[in-house]
Amino acid sequence: MVHLTGDEKSVVAALWSKVNVDEVGGEALGRLLVVYPWTQRFFEFFGDLSSPAAVMGNPKVKAHGKKVLGAFSDGLAHLDNLKGTFAQLSELHCDKLHVDPENFRLLGNVLVCVLARNFGKEFTPQVQAVFQKVVAGVATAMAHKYH
Ligand code: HEM
Repeated sequence: MVHLTGDEKSVVAALWSKVNVDEVGGEALGRLLVVYPWTQRFFEFFGDLSSPAAVMGNPKVKAHGKKVLGAFSDGLAHLDNLKGTFAQLSELHCDKLHVDPENFRLLGNVLVCVLARNFGKEFTPQVQAVFQKVVAGVATAMAHKYH
């Protein structure tokens, strides 16, 4: 559960309406794999991840990033019920994929960097503050079913 005021929700909605979810997803996942190389372990079957350029140009990274950010986007529509919204995905990442939940935080912070880069001046400290809350909420929800 993320507690956002009405104003904060408007800030999220206004920025997100301008986000190209397909591209930003690929960029965020690609950067996660470059910046935190141990996360590549989960994606060995994606093929060539041998250099930053290979990672960023890898079509499977782009396609999967799009899928991940699509799920993230659904979460933004349910900010009052993130745990319910991400329950199944949390179970999947815990039981089947064995992804360390710390990685959800890393991905959230990488996403903030990508948004900052894409939106420049528009990504004001106020906008950042709201998005940090959102990515923290999603990471907590994604970790919720871990046991
Ligand atoms: C906000 C965080 C995340 C969200 C919303 C998310 C979402 C998703 C979604 C929607 C899928 C596809 C599930 C399906 O096909 O039914 C998926 C699969 C997967 N995710 Fe995540 N994910 C997140 C973070 C991560 C992180 C940080 C890692 C690893 C470092 C990871 C590793 C994987 C792997 C290995 C798969 C399976 C890929 C495949 O078999 O094609 N995820 N994730």
